[in-house]
Amino acid sequence: MTLSLLPEEERILAGEQGETRQMMMEILVALGKVFGAEHLIPIKSAQVSGASFKTIGEAGLEWLSGLDARVAVPTVLNPVGMDRKRWREMGISESFARKQEQIIAAYSRLGVRLECTCTPYYLYQTRFGEHLAWSESSAVAYANSVIGARTNREGGPGALAGAIIGKTPAYGLHLVPKRRPELVFAVEPSPEWGDSALFGALGYFTGKIAGNRIPFFTGIRPTRNQLKALGAAMAASGAVALYHVEGITPEARVFSYPIDEIEKIPVTVSDVRLTASETLPDAVALGCPHCSPEELAGVAHLLDGRKVRIPVYVFAARKVIEQTPDAVTIIERSGAKVYGDTCMVVSPVMEQYGLIMVNSGKAFAYVPDMCGAAVRLGTTEECIRIATGE
Ligand code: F3S
Repeated sequence: MTLSLLPEEERILAGEQGETRQMMMEILVALGKVFGAEHLIPIKSAQVSGASFKTIGEAGLEWLSGLDARVAVPTVLNPVGMDRKRWREMGISESFARKQEQIIAAYSRLGVRLECTCTPYYLYQTRFGEHLAWSESSAVAYANSVIGARTNREGGPGALAGAIIGKTPAYGLHLVPKRRPELVFAVEPSPEWGDSALFGALGYFTGKIAGNRIPFFTGIRPTRNQLKALGAAMAASGAVALYHVEGITPEARVFSYPIDEIEKIPVTVSDVRLTASETLPDAVALGCPHCSPEELAGVAHLLDGRKVRIPVYVFAARKVIEQTPDAVTIIERSGAKVYGDTCMVVSPVMEQYGLIMVNSGKAFAYVPDMCGAAVRLGTTEECIRIATGE
């Protein structure tokens, strides 16, 4: 199979529209050739990871600073290394903040919207069947699975190339036949499947088994927040970029997949429940992926009238924070902090703690390596009960 380009795409590749667009077209062509795409397809939006100075460092900043073009489609940024307004209060150093602002300025020059979040679907409408170039793994899993949009799990440069050209190579999850389930997790129904943290634990468990295959779940009826937790954890412990839930996710409702013909793995609550740790954490971190308005309201409800005894961090998109001022006021009155633009993994703020308690299967997978801390998983209620010492 060969990749064929339109005349205008050939002209970009020949450098007629400048070096940056040429380089971005080269990235797309290389990806298309490696993965066997026959052509490029237009995308509706892009979400670009590689935004924190903690993760991309000097080399990434230098590369970004040399780019000279504008994005062709609405493009948002993944969380950066600090709350852009309250970084001093977070304890971020002047030198880190300066580098971080340079990265943000470089993206801004390219026309990238400075919504620094892994939950862009709370800010902009994304529709079933739309082609995207998104790169943060939980956002990719949500877009494909919960919305029914179509995106591969792009690396940062691939997503940025898609954003600048407005197209991406048509391979993998952009193609309907490649979106069929490849194994079934037959989950034993139980009233205990009620908490997002348990769906995070389910995702952590099943993601390790699935790897990069497409799972189909039976026996559960998750809400959207629980689907978010499930997909984020599977993307972290495995490399799941799309999953289906019988009767719930859009493609499972639209297509009749022949699930009787594929490998079936039974799962129970006791399979996924992690052994409860009794060690008291040094801090609690919530909001991985970034909290929805309902999740912020839920945390506010739990903290209303209470005081935290250890640091509690809550992360969400800045616009979601601005849309829920009452919840944020209640949370911060307890002594907990609600930060935008950043998260527990891409900010250096959590590196000061030895044991961090989280309510997210994805954070459970990432915190040890990315923050150098031990991690404990609990429900949101357990996190707040321990933080308030009740
Ligand atoms: Fe989002 Fe950071 Fe978790 S990018 S999914 S909050 S690790």
